[in-house]
Amino acid sequence: MSEELQNEIKKRRTFAIISHPDAGKTTLTEKLLLYGGAIHLAGSIKSRKTQRHAVSDWMEIEKQRGISVTSSVLQFDYNGCRINILDTPGHQDFSEDTYRTLMAVDSAVMVIDVAKGIEAQTKKLFKVCKERGIPIFTFVNKLDHYGKAPLDLMDEIEEVLGIRSYPMNWPIGVDGDYKGIYDRQKSEIELFDADKTHGQEARKSRTGTLDDPDFVKLLGETDYNQLKEDIELLDEAGEQFDLDKIACGELTPMFFGSAMTNFGVQDFLEEYLRLAPSPQPRKSSDGLIAPDDDRFSGFVFKIQANMNPAHHDRLAFIRICSGKFERNMQVWHERSSKVIKLSQPQQFLAQDRQIIEDAYPGDIVGIFDPGIFGIGDTICASSHKFKYEDFPVFPPEKFARVSAKDTMRRKQFVKGMMQLTQEGAIQLFKQAGGGAESYIVGTVGTLQFEVLEYRLKKEYNVDINMTMLPFEVARWMAFPDGDTVAPADIHGAERGMFCYDRRDNPVLLVSNEWALGWITENNPKLQLYAVPMDRKEA
Ligand code: G4P
Repeated sequence: MSEELQNEIKKRRTFAIISHPDAGKTTLTEKLLLYGGAIHLAGSIKSRKTQRHAVSDWMEIEKQRGISVTSSVLQFDYNGCRINILDTPGHQDFSEDTYRTLMAVDSAVMVIDVAKGIEAQTKKLFKVCKERGIPIFTFVNKLDHYGKAPLDLMDEIEEVLGIRSYPMNWPIGVDGDYKGIYDRQKSEIELFDADKTHGQEARKSRTGTLDDPDFVKLLGETDYNQLKEDIELLDEAGEQFDLDKIACGELTPMFFGSAMTNFGVQDFLEEYLRLAPSPQPRKSSDGLIAPDDDRFSGFVFKIQANMNPAHHDRLAFIRICSGKFERNMQVWHERSSKVIKLSQPQQFLAQDRQIIEDAYPGDIVGIFDPGIFGIGDTICASSHKFKYEDFPVFPPEKFARVSAKDTMRRKQFVKGMMQLTQEGAIQLFKQAGGGAESYIVGTVGTLQFEVLEYRLKKEYNVDINMTMLPFEVARWMAFPDGDTVAPADIHGAERGMFCYDRRDNPVLLVSNEWALGWITENNPKLQLYAVPMDRKEA
């Protein structure tokens, strides 16, 4: 293994920021880019409320609604590290896309609004991180205004998410009027300045040790004594700092700060880079593949069509896992068993894309995809063929019947539906005995329906009729003897909807777990799976 490769791997940190909408993910990302020098004045990314859009927003719908719908990638350098941030949608509803993005990172940053604590969205995303055993770093944001007490937040993290936390720093003063933070690693105080630039510039802060007489004066006796007491309590009764526990996701380092006013952001970034893992080995059909294995490998974690409306192109996003990536290199595409050439590799910042010559483990490259890639596909060197472990399949929970308004546009409608299914944005079903003109669409969140409608209109010029269906559970069906399952075989099939998936596997949609229980009880021979049978190990 080459020294160059090892150095490049050591430099890399690839992570996702997860949060509930409005906790401050966009603002924090923006400030990290500001420190990294990737942008010069924060706020240029996300401007006024009415017209706000993040650096990583691509699709027009995102700009219109001020939300980030698709996951995307930002790369910048800081203190000798190369940072790849993978964006995840910040909306109550989210898609498999979010889950898959978490398959491509080595750690995650969880942003929590100090006033709101853990919210539903964070909980769901967090579960995925925990299942993967990746380290989670917590940034408690909006410390400049009233919120929950730090100790209560620590309890909440433990109770709701089942993970212990280790505060890396601690707020000084009274809730809503914090004077600064105390850095437990450096035993330093950072005072909160009134920031006249409203956080648009990287700020310098004032630091010193806890027994610095200046600070006693500045903080006042009461706050000073309170701080000493808190720190003693944390040191004695709190969790010990343990990097091994952090590395396997059992302990989360917790940082307090305010993204908007830049308070605590730089410290967070530096500590994060110090503690977060560089690219890690990955499971494959040939055992663990180490990133410093000289033989190139990677996998596709996202596919997106029509990113540039002018070109109607389709990009496959590849996470590099081992070896060095070089433009125009020939690789083995495991699923099709073909050698392919990776031309036009691209990296991203905002609307800019640039062609890159090389990349290393941890990096994400976008490859022009003529239609051969699927999500989860492995690419590797022909000299060492293997397959990375399958992505988990997430069962759909929302369903709608969709048809083209204008039957003359049916061809485009089918094309669009197929394309979006391939991208993994939706799952497609056909009702047994139903007409050819409509599809049943399944998704993980309702936002995907809006995205579907918007994209069919924008990219395929197709208006659709969409009717939400009262189902929340899908079950793939099989008989133990391998006999085909037909609607007439299922007692009570009419209580739900009998469908076929894209590969003609029989699927029953039912309204809830109770209905599912009824079907199970009344069809003792029937086997039911939450995901397609060929993926039932997932
Ligand atoms: P998101 O990506 O997680 O959805 O959150 P985003 O960064 O868009 O932040 C949501 C709102 O919270 C924004 O206000 C943002 O300015 C504010 N915010 C972010 N960090 C902090 C912080 O540290 N302190 C305070 N007080 N507010 C913070 P907005 O009014 O919705 O938008 P804007 O008008 O500020 O753009």
